[in-house]
Amino acid sequence: VIGGGNIGGVLVQEIARRRLARAVGLMDVLEPDFAKGKCLDIAEGTPIVGLDVVMEGAKDYSAIKGADIVINTAGVPRKKRPDVTIPTREELLKTNLGITAQVAKGIQEFAPNATVISLANPLDAIVYTLHKKMNPPKNKLLGMAGVLDSARYRYFVAHAAGVSVDNVEAVVLGGHGDTMVPVRSCCRIGGMPVEKFVGEEELAALETRTRKAGAEVVGLLGSGSAFVSPAWAALEMAEAIGYDRKKIIAVCALLEGEYGVNGLFVGVPAVIGANGVEKIIEVDLTPAEKDALANSVNAVAKTCKEVDEMSK
Ligand code: APR
Repeated sequence: VIGGGNIGGVLVQEIARRRLARAVGLMDVLEPDFAKGKCLDIAEGTPIVGLDVVMEGAKDYSAIKGADIVINTAGVPRKKRPDVTIPTREELLKTNLGITAQVAKGIQEFAPNATVISLANPLDAIVYTLHKKMNPPKNKLLGMAGVLDSARYRYFVAHAAGVSVDNVEAVVLGGHGDTMVPVRSCCRIGGMPVEKFVGEEELAALETRTRKAGAEVVGLLGSGSAFVSPAWAALEMAEAIGYDRKKIIAVCALLEGEYGVNGLFVGVPAVIGANGVEKIIEVDLTPAEKDALANSVNAVAKTCKEVDEMSK
């Protein structure tokens, strides 16, 4: 795990509790030796919960040496400003680009064969940057956004319908920003169309809430951005890879012609297994959903263009 802040902290705990790995390495640049302290804290609790997981933290990338899966959370999160406005994820780009350059170097040096799941924001542009710097095989680099965005949509829909979250299936496509596309035509409750349970107007409101769900949490927390649900979402992906589950999960993946997009990382459903992104699935969209996706892809392209310009 790279970055041991809010999300990284939950990741290490949960990897241990779920017995997802025999050994977890945590890297963070924070002084005096934050990552080591974080791991020691959790490791000292393992006898209480009966876990034999090795945990090592370090200030340098040797912490991830030989890892099969690397989860990247290094970067600043969004934070409510004193004037109570909330920055967009794109506003984090400049700061997080510099951090990402170091992350790419560290992964290349210490875990060149790892499958990489990245969470730092702006999500799609940071994954694009990692790709530019590391040029890994297409299947081995994924961004975590769609699982979380879909989970938020599912949660809102389940509550509106008064049913278990287990009964709600949903897909959110596109970039991890305000243009993301909750695909209503794919939303099912117990196998039935969502419209059978929730009215048109309420659904539209839930979809708007989904697009802005990250900012809603930022506004409420005041001190940073959502961290438990993003960590759980990344673990859904790591678990599918580790156990070769072939699970269909919405992930940010490199498109090479799929959805008519070339060379960008965008949120799409994919079969996730031991080989990472094993197959990208093209959803049949309504004309309005197609337009919304094109709009979202344009937003991603714009931020990636900024990446290209900043890295000149
Ligand atoms: N290498 C490793 N870790 C770094 C580096 C670096 N070059 N630079 C910063 N970090 C660490 C920080 O020291 C901090 O502990 O990354 C950690 C980030 O933790 P938080 O600030 O708590 O942020 P968090 O909420 O975990 O979000 C991390 O994921 O969802 C995104 O927008 C979010 O970009 C943010 C990232």
